[in-house]
Amino acid sequence: MSSSSALSPIPGYTFGAPDLPRSPISLEELDRLKQTILFTEEDARYLRMSAAVLEDQIEQVLDVWYGFVASHRHLLRYFSSRQDGKPIPEYLERVRKRFGQWVRDTARAEYDQKWLDYQHEIGRRHHRTAKNRTDDVDSVPNIDYRYLIALIYPITATLKPFLAKKGHKPEEVEKMHQAWIKSVILQVALWSQPYVKEGDF
Ligand code: HEM
Repeated sequence: MSSSSALSPIPGYTFGAPDLPRSPISLEELDRLKQTILFTEEDARYLRMSAAVLEDQIEQVLDVWYGFVASHRHLLRYFSSRQDGKPIPEYLERVRKRFGQWVRDTARAEYDQKWLDYQHEIGRRHHRTAKNRTDDVDSVPNIDYRYLIALIYPITATLKPFLAKKGHKPEEVEKMHQAWIKSVILQVALWSQPYVKEGDF
């Protein structure tokens, strides 16, 4: 399992790159955010349990998530050309690879400085600060913030059946699912920073 970027074959995946901008919050502040979301060591353990459950299902999970985005024009437009409004296949494909790696990184649940800095980078890539740059595309410049929050529900709800596919007890499936919900909310909270007025984050 690789999450170090320099050797990574995933285009644009820069987790751990030394030149990434630092997260505006410290690891202590991250810890307070985790406490606020009731994220505990037990959640980290269940995320790690989900890693093995999801590993050979990642492409199917991505089919569902991408299918969801593709079936809503108001979402697909963020992957589409600013010129003619048509989806940009290379953009979709390159982001999909990084999305697959994000599933692995989320399930790894190692909340260190590198992880925190990459969360900041993912936020920037949704926001006009850095959207389109990684893949050098001319798509719409910014993802409207309200959709980041709204997508938390379909992303996490559609994951549950996949968590249940490897014969775990219903209580274990539920705990993996709850841990995923917490982690995705935590991450989207971190991704919000570039969207929030200076001084208010
Ligand atoms: C819970 C909410 C969301 C999650 C978990 C999520 C997850 C991700 C991940 C993991 C990446 C790749 C990050 C990387 O470069 O390593 C990404 C990029 C992207 N996401 Fe999202 N996303 C969310 C909301 C949205 C929404 C609402 C849209 C609108 C359709 C969207 C569109 C995109 C686009 C266009 C990129 C590529 C950005 C770029 O680098 O140019 N995302 N997302």
